[in-house]
Amino acid sequence: ANYGLCSDTHKVLDILVNGLRRLEYRGYDSAGLAINGTSPADVVIVKAVGSVDNLESSVNKLQQTRFEQPVQLPYHVGVAHTRWATHGAPSVFNSHPHTSDSSGQFVVVHNGIITNFKPIKEMLTSKHFEFDSDTDTEVIAKLLKYLYDTVRENGEKLTFPRLVMHLVHAIDGAYALLIRSTVYPNELVACKVGSPLVLGLKPAEREHISVIRSSARDSHLGKKTPARIPSAEELSIDGFDGVEYFLSSDASALIEHTDKVVYFEDDDLVHIRSDGHLRMYNTGDSETTRGIASNRTIATLDMELEQIMKGSYPHFMLKEIYEQPESLLQTMRGRVLINSQSENKTNALQIKSDVHLGGISQRLSDFKRSSRIIFVACGTSFHSCIAARQVMEELTELPVTIELASDFIDRRTPLFRSDVCVFVSQSGETADTLEALRYAKKCQALTVGVVNVVGSSIARITDCGVHLNAGAEIGVASTKAYTSQIITIVIFALQLSLDSRSKQVRRKEIHDALLALPALVKKTLTDLDEHMKAIAQRLRDNTSILLFGRGYQYATCLEGALKIKELSYIHTEGIHAGELKHGPLALIDENMPVILFASQDACANKVQNALHQLMARGGISNMIIIGTEGDSNLEAFRDKAQLVLVPQTVDCLQCVLSIIPMQLLSYHLTVARGLNVDQPRSLAKSVTVE
Ligand code: G6P
Repeated sequence: ANYGLCSDTHKVLDILVNGLRRLEYRGYDSAGLAINGTSPADVVIVKAVGSVDNLESSVNKLQQTRFEQPVQLPYHVGVAHTRWATHGAPSVFNSHPHTSDSSGQFVVVHNGIITNFKPIKEMLTSKHFEFDSDTDTEVIAKLLKYLYDTVRENGEKLTFPRLVMHLVHAIDGAYALLIRSTVYPNELVACKVGSPLVLGLKPAEREHISVIRSSARDSHLGKKTPARIPSAEELSIDGFDGVEYFLSSDASALIEHTDKVVYFEDDDLVHIRSDGHLRMYNTGDSETTRGIASNRTIATLDMELEQIMKGSYPHFMLKEIYEQPESLLQTMRGRVLINSQSENKTNALQIKSDVHLGGISQRLSDFKRSSRIIFVACGTSFHSCIAARQVMEELTELPVTIELASDFIDRRTPLFRSDVCVFVSQSGETADTLEALRYAKKCQALTVGVVNVVGSSIARITDCGVHLNAGAEIGVASTKAYTSQIITIVIFALQLSLDSRSKQVRRKEIHDALLALPALVKKTLTDLDEHMKAIAQRLRDNTSILLFGRGYQYATCLEGALKIKELSYIHTEGIHAGELKHGPLALIDENMPVILFASQDACANKVQNALHQLMARGGISNMIIIGTEGDSNLEAFRDKAQLVLVPQTVDCLQCVLSIIPMQLLSYHLTVARGLNVDQPRSLAKSVTVE
């Protein structure tokens, strides 16, 4: 949403459509927007099924017809939304904004899910409200009208934020909401619980928003009037003229307008008025906190516009695959220390600080007291935990378990104060992971975030943590975040074992391999891109592919299979090679394409066994072996199978190199099949609903 001094309708429309483009990776089955018509008491809504391009075509028509002469208004309130369907199929009716009635008295865009929408819908239907869509969101718009009309019938007047407070006390679930209304012209209310919401201020000069408390009674709610955060003028924003407010689900839609942002917390409600007042309220249930605004800091975004642009690459995914040498360097910068002293006079028993994770260094004594480490994540992030688990166990000598966030919540796993729970998430907003985090906090476990997006919910709620610093990842299929997650957890393990004398030789081996890794990733990309493209051409018409591996490569199987299936829609399974005889072998014949990961590590002999078992079933004729350079064991297979060799590194980091050919293969397969690389069907980058 954009709210501010935009005197020209065309400019407002451009800002909204461009903002949606930046957010399209979060959902792209339909899009819509609402802006002022000829006056703030009049609203124009445009919607389209499909991509933002389709919406833009409709907007262009509007600009050539109704808005041929741009409407000049002192202020505009525009809201826009790109949808990823939860309730109701993608259609114009189901796309946002949703309205209270045909005149658009209340207009709502919503990110999240309203879990109690059914009883609300039934209640409103009994009051003769008619619904146009199958969505949960439409009940919000209608409920606002119902509440507004009911209060007016009682002869009372309600301010816009008060009305929305009534609304939020009636709805359950997760939401970031933007609401505009023709009965509150030039005002906008935004609020959030569970879904992200960030405010951009252009310009903003003070670093801090302080709170002025007010003790006046509120006549309607019988509660204290919410404290107010200072108005724009009070924030020393050079007068209201020229100030624009932007609200978005993520900062990438704001960066081209401003780098000054405020991340909202759950239960925050923001009210913006055309006179420049921006007030913040708390909608929480507790009697003591309700209505009391909290301090919020204005943060400066550390993000460049180029980071979220494709540049010369045809797809974000390819750009992000190729960014890995740099993103891994960024993840290590200032953390994996190059200690010349330790390099010159190698003394394995002399303990030196060779890694430094500032975000957790203050809590090291808490980690030392812990009895186990539990990693919690979803999707690709889950796989990165599997990839790094073994080295974490080895270096910390603690039990390390890995939990799918959804299953962890379902089971309500017993947790104790002595547990460390690590929440790994690229976006920092995944609903299941967030829910698991809230549960862990309730159990008083020490919570740690390993998150890419700065300012995200998981980054803010955890007790301590590490940012990946991998840069913005836009492609729905995660690539550079995965490799940065693995090395972050490895660095974490190094940090936790810093003072373990028996581990120093091993630690140094891993430390040195980390420093060498970006160059090896670069070499792998250069050596294998064309090779994987050729293999993709061969595999493009297959209906099934099986991936096998074990040890450090088990995660590579799972992640490689996920990449291929989510992008190319070919059925692909990642299977632990130890399970081959327990079922999957029945699927093997000369036609089944098989990808086997064979590294020179402790599992090498066992993988060779699997290779022979597969061969005996005819699987070799359609087999790709992802091995390491210089592995003489693989030479015997050169003529029988396709050999793809990556450089060798230390065992626990080999997975960072062996996933590269899988990323390239899934990319080229998808291009070869003519599918949308960056926006696979039915998937979104950030899954903010359970
Ligand atoms: C979605 C994305 C995946 C991602 C997963 C977890 O499914 O498409 O790429 O791995 O969510 O997301 P997170 O942001 O928590 O890492």
